[in-house]
Amino acid sequence: MSTFYNPVAVYCGNESVAPFLTDLTKRLAPGADRILLLTRGGGVEGSPCVASLYNWLQGYNVTSIEIQIANPDVTDIWELKNRLEGTDYQLVIAIGGGSVMDVAKVLSAFQGISLETKDVLREAVIDKSYRKQERYAPWIGIPTTSGTGSEVTSWATIWDEERGVKYSVDDPRLYACAAIILPELAASMPLKLSVSTALDALSHAVEAYWSVRTNPITRLYSLQAIERIMEALPQLKEDPASEKLREQLAYASLYAGLAFSNTRTTACHSISYPLTMLYGIEHGIATSITIGSILSLNKERLIEPYRLLKAFCADSVEDVQHIIFDIYKLYGIPTRLRDYGITAESTGEIVKRAYTKGRMDNNPIEMTEQDVHDVLQSLL
Ligand SMILES: [Fe+2]
Repeated sequence: MSTFYNPVAVYCGNESVAPFLTDLTKRLAPGADRILLLTRGGGVEGSPCVASLYNWLQGYNVTSIEIQIANPDVTDIWELKNRLEGTDYQLVIAIGGGSVMDVAKVLSAFQGISLETKDVLREAVIDKSYRKQERYAPWIGIPTTSGTGSEVTSWATIWDEERGVKYSVDDPRLYACAAIILPELAASMPLKLSVSTALDALSHAVEAYWSVRTNPITRLYSLQAIERIMEALPQLKEDPASEKLREQLAYASLYAGLAFSNTRTTACHSISYPLTMLYGIEHGIATSITIGSILSLNKERLIEPYRLLKAFCADSVEDVQHIIFDIYKLYGIPTRLRDYGITAESTGEIVKRAYTKGRMDNNPIEMTEQDVHDVLQSLL
């Protein structure tokens, strides 16, 4: 038996978002008048497509914070909680990329919790004691990058640089009450960021397709996401301002998000974490660089493999690696791990740290340490 569930109300379109937000607030946060607005900064409030949102906000008591953090760490969350001490927000609105939305989820889960020290926060994240809360602050996600799909998933990633690990803050109650998709917001994104976030979405879609938790609805969203990314991403180089291409990538990211909201990710993401933590490789590159190799290992377990190959416009499983690396080359992204400072000797440490629970064991074939080692060696 397989099931698909996602409760996020999704708004798409160019009309004013005010009636949608008024109705939503009436239903999900009745009487709420204190809103915490988290933005990525960079003048996002000046974008015409969010004008109706900012007009709507004028009727509320808004605390606004710019979040300029690449990968939120326990220390960042601790500082934010201190800054918000005494601010009793009833609704969180996040306008930004995955990091801003991750922060929104954590502040939503920890809204009613007082934390005396950073260690108390760390322990609460590790033992998931925030789940004892009767309710979380509802939150709304408005993505400004086309990649993470965080607006339709129920977990957030928190890094812990001091301990060299990452944690997941997760609970089905952490789904946003709404996601507002405004492709125009991604138009100001630097091309390099557009490419790496689209490659992250590609990884979400592919990994959802083959995950042990895959189901027919997930695979439908996965295929749509892959097709759109494969069509739009190579064209973006020539026409980075194209509204049509930005729209394609925004919806591809949403579909990939919906797909992996029900499956989570697998070996590619699990291996990516030490690549990012130890070598600073951007998330979307760290996840997509192994897609071709992992696909070759997983090929016997794929459901309807011909559909996946068709979405990539590939004739064989082996083609997929070339197709993805052609996109890398088009944008000048190195395809070999040695170009990121990784050597044959250093792969042992990556293998050791590549096993994240709930990710590696979500891969359709069991990945032995030798398998991970071989994948890394083949990419050196
Ligand atoms: Fe990701």
